[in-house]
Parts: sequence; structure tokens; C-alpha cells
Amino acid sequence: MTTSSHSQILIVGVGGLGEHLVREALERGAQVSVLVRDRTNLEARLDAGTIAKLTRITVGDATDPAALDSAMQGIDVVISGNGAHKTMARRMAEAAKRNRLGKLIWPAGGTNLMSDDGVTPAYKAYGNSSFNAEAIYKAHQACIDVIRETGVNYVIFCPGRMTSVGYRSADVASAVRVNRPAGMFVSYEDAAWVILEAALTNAWDRELIGAATEVNI
Ligand SMILES: NC(=O)c1ccc[n+]([C@@H]2O[C@H](COP(=O)([O-])OP(=O)(O)OC[C@H]3O[C@@H](n4cnc5c(N)ncnc54)[C@H](OP(=O)(O)O)[C@@H]3O)[C@@H](O)[C@H]2O)c1
Repeated sequence: MTTSSHSQILIVGVGGLGEHLVREALERGAQVSVLVRDRTNLEARLDAGTIAKLTRITVGDATDPAALDSAMQGIDVVISGNGAHKTMARRMAEAAKRNRLGKLIWPAGGTNLMSDDGVTPAYKAYGNSSFNAEAIYKAHQACIDVIRETGVNYVIFCPGRMTSVGYRSADVASAVRVNRPAGMFVSYEDAAWVILEAALTNAWDRELIGAATEVNI
């Protein structure tokens, strides 16, 4: 499937990443709807002009099948702005399948990619880190597993740490790696570009992908 820039995109959860997904999708000319738990939080994230460009705002919880079914009416691709939530992953994947969407895009973590040798899960390289790489890996992997179980078409985006840097990198496309670690940091802006590219083309269907941003922060 190759979707067009006029695709109907649903973004579920508008936090740090979700805010940038909305902006990137609108910039590309997509029709953008959102599902959020709290409209006040949405209004704190997005200015009134951006909110006015949204096709539909559904207020509800992404673990609620009825809210998901309502939000997914007429949608081609759903993108989650929240990860590490197994129930949400399962319910969203089931709803995407039930409503015949073309694809679900889900954020996991950089530790879910394979190391450069192609056989060792990347979390094993972080055994001596200050963070519990195995626990993070397992929390994200549980989501990946339930998404795959439903049979829905998917792309799993696997970032290291994310935050905004205020701009998109000039050549973000060259920073994308398929199922291999890309780097420890990716900006929300670059992540949003990669995720919308995954939404609007079939370049990375059924793959885990990573991307990195070269900045000193
Ligand atoms: N940031 C990082 O460094 C990083 C690194 C690796 C992976 N990730 C993954 O990427 C995801 C996005 O990162 P982020 O920095 O954008 O996180 P974030 O700012 O915390 O955004 C998460 C959003 O998801 C929404 N949400 C949570 N549960 C929901 C539910 N049941 N129904 C509807 N919406 C729900 C939250 O809504 P409310 O506004 O209602 O709370 C919030 O707006 C994370 O969840 C994480 O799994 C993040």
C-alpha cells in the first residue's frame, strides 16, 4: 500500500511526540484527527490555529474500544503518541484491524532493535548502564508482540531518548536504520518526519526502524 499525502491520519495521545506528529502530518497535507484523554492538555500543546485544522477531535481513552472505533471512522493510518502500554497496544491494534485501517504505527524503544551483528537484541549491549535496559526492552517488546499477534500491518519506531530541538535535520532520511540501532537520541522533529514517512508510504511496513539526530545537547 502506498498512501497519499491526502490520507486520513489519526494520532492517539498528543504529548511531546504527538504534538510534532500533528504538525508534521498537517505540513504534509494529510487530514489529521486526534484521540486524546483531555482536551485541556491538547489546547496546552497546540495553538488555536493548529487545532482548527484538525478534522476531528475525539476525547476518550485509547484503551476503550468504543472510543477507538469512533475515532477510527474514515481513518487510513493510526499513529500512537504513547508507548510501553500493553493494553493500549492490544486495543489499538485490534481496533485498527476491526476498522480495516491500512496500518498502525507504534513507538517502542531503541533497545528493541537488533545489534549490528543482526542476532543479539540491542538491550544486551546496555548491561552496565544506569538504566534497566532489559526492563525497558520487555515493556516495549510486550507491546510489539501483541501488535504482531493481531495481524495488523504495522511499523514500530524505536527511538533512543527523544526531546525537541526546535528544527528538523536537513537529511533525516539518511539517519533511518531498519532493525539496527541508529543512535541514543532522536529529536521529536526528526522522529515525526520518519513516522509520517512510514505512515504515508509502504517503505518500512512490518519493520522495526530507528533514527538518530546528530546534536550536542
Ligand atoms: N521521550 C522519550 O525519551 C522516549 C524514548 C523512547 C521511547 N519513548 C516512547 O515514546 C512515547 C511518546 O513519548 P513522549 O515523550 O511524547 O511521551 P509523553 O509526552 O508522555 O506523551 C504521551 C501521551 O500519551 C497520552 N496517553 C497516555 N495514555 C493514554 C491513553 N490511555 N489514552 C490516550 N492517550 C494516552 C498522554 O496523554 P495525557 O496528556 O492525557 O497524559 C500523553 O499526551 C512514550 O510513551 C514512550 O513509550 C519515549
